[in-house]
Amino acid sequence: MKLLDVLTEEVASAFEAAGYDPKYGKVSLSNRPDLCEYQCNGAMAAAKEYHSAPIQIAEKVSEKLAGSATFEKAEAVKPGFLNLNIRGEKLAEYLRDMAEDPKYSAPQPEKPKSIIVDYGGPNVAKPLHIGHLRAAIIGESIKRIGSYMGHSVLGDIHMGDWGLQMGLIIAEMKRRAREAGGQEAALPTIRQLEEIYPAASKRSGEDEAFKKEAMDITYELQHGNEEYMAIWRHIMKISVADLKQNYDRLNVSFEIWKGESDADPYIADMVERMKKEGYAYESKGALVVDVSEEGDAKEIPPCMLLKSDGAALYTTTDLATLVQRMEDYRPDLVIYVVDKRQELHFKQVFRCAKKTGIVPEEVKLTFLGFGTMNGSDGKPFKTRSGGVMRLESLLEEVYERMLLRMEENGNEMTEEEREDAAKKVALAAIKYGDLSNQASKDYVFDVDKFTSFEGNTGPYILYTIVRIKSILRKYEESGGSLDALSIRCPEGASEKELAMLLAGFGGVMENAFEESAPHKICAFIYEVSNAFNHFYHEVKILSEEDEEKKKGWLALLLLTKGILEDSIHVLGFEAPEKM
Ligand code: ARG
Repeated sequence: MKLLDVLTEEVASAFEAAGYDPKYGKVSLSNRPDLCEYQCNGAMAAAKEYHSAPIQIAEKVSEKLAGSATFEKAEAVKPGFLNLNIRGEKLAEYLRDMAEDPKYSAPQPEKPKSIIVDYGGPNVAKPLHIGHLRAAIIGESIKRIGSYMGHSVLGDIHMGDWGLQMGLIIAEMKRRAREAGGQEAALPTIRQLEEIYPAASKRSGEDEAFKKEAMDITYELQHGNEEYMAIWRHIMKISVADLKQNYDRLNVSFEIWKGESDADPYIADMVERMKKEGYAYESKGALVVDVSEEGDAKEIPPCMLLKSDGAALYTTTDLATLVQRMEDYRPDLVIYVVDKRQELHFKQVFRCAKKTGIVPEEVKLTFLGFGTMNGSDGKPFKTRSGGVMRLESLLEEVYERMLLRMEENGNEMTEEEREDAAKKVALAAIKYGDLSNQASKDYVFDVDKFTSFEGNTGPYILYTIVRIKSILRKYEESGGSLDALSIRCPEGASEKELAMLLAGFGGVMENAFEESAPHKICAFIYEVSNAFNHFYHEVKILSEEDEEKKKGWLALLLLTKGILEDSIHVLGFEAPEKM
């Protein structure tokens, strides 16, 4: 149970004992930390029901809390607040329970939800670039947070593998074969593919006949042309292998490797049904469904299902994918982690899916739109020479920097350890730099800032964990055992502050899950790291003479480490042993 719930139970029974409805006993974190640690504003609301002054109610409740084993202070203040401070012993007891729980008391659902997170969205045969980085980082974290909170969550990569880009590639391959003397198009390698797509895309802008050919090929491919299907299968095979490698390096993985092509078989029936049931109608040759609603501030244009030439669109694919997902997984919730510029598209898709009954009313569809990752010039991130930055190059650059840093630090590390640490720290720098911002906001990718070992950065969090690990290791090396340690009533201010923060873990996780907000976990672990380092500088843990006190501190360290490690795990990175 969350600490706030434990405290609420206690105050609720005091309300009841004083003759009031226990529902007024809700406890929250204090918004005046200078006055108290927690507060309850229930007396203000109760005053209306009981027709008496809030302060009188608060005073009566406060009397009932006098001598409580939970609160060392429960003070009624005007106009009717209860200012609360928790007893150190109660806090310690709560932390001891937390330490025993594999999820550190993060609340688990009675009935787990089935959730699909749609993220990734790479377009097959085009290299992964920075645009896909945010989807991968944020989506992976949303997925892990959901699993941590006890839900059954599946990540779907939803590849763009069925559009015009496939026609363009095949057209270019055929053109090259003709140029080389008319043989059959040779199947490309992944490196050749990466060069073919931009070339084809450029050509289609300059050469009408080529563009037409690419469109015809796309049409034929989508209608089962065997020659094109064989090429398509080859492209898919090498692309998926390459994508897996790239996502691996990011600590990102998908349970479902489906793409737009997998939605194709569902389109015909879906469209037929929408026509039959009167949702879809013809407008200027195209087939559309109205999705505007009364009270829309801005007009939401109709959802287009088929173009006048009968071709399906991005919207059609997303709707058909929902048909397939409902059949295969029957999720309670689908979360789309996609660039926020696609917001209107998803609004149309969600409305159309609900209106036409593809998705029943009780199933939730949510759009988590993310902002752009910019360079220090405030424009979308580019390489130094101004080109589109490839994901691999970015990872490589940050890695090299971190490796240098590990070498400078001169810790006793083997080369292997150094490389492993540099990899982990680099990933932490990139991911934390991204996740610590609210997803919907644009942010500046500032390599110097993100890789710093001080301040609100990934490396700083890792450094804190490594520091704790090193203390624990030294204790063990000197013959101490980390088993059966038990957290004690905090004595100093910095110790209590750390303890109070740790106790809030479950609430933070729950909130981050409900609001799809990994940045709240970042803010939390930054605070915990600061509190820990503050505590660390105030006391001498290993040289403490009072053995019991020392063990109590080590227990607190173990809990701090566990909570930080679980937090970074859900953010999608991990800490090395040394750095
Ligand atoms: N492939 C798309 C793009 O690059 C992103 C896909 C997002 N997911 C979805 N279900 N539409 O823009």
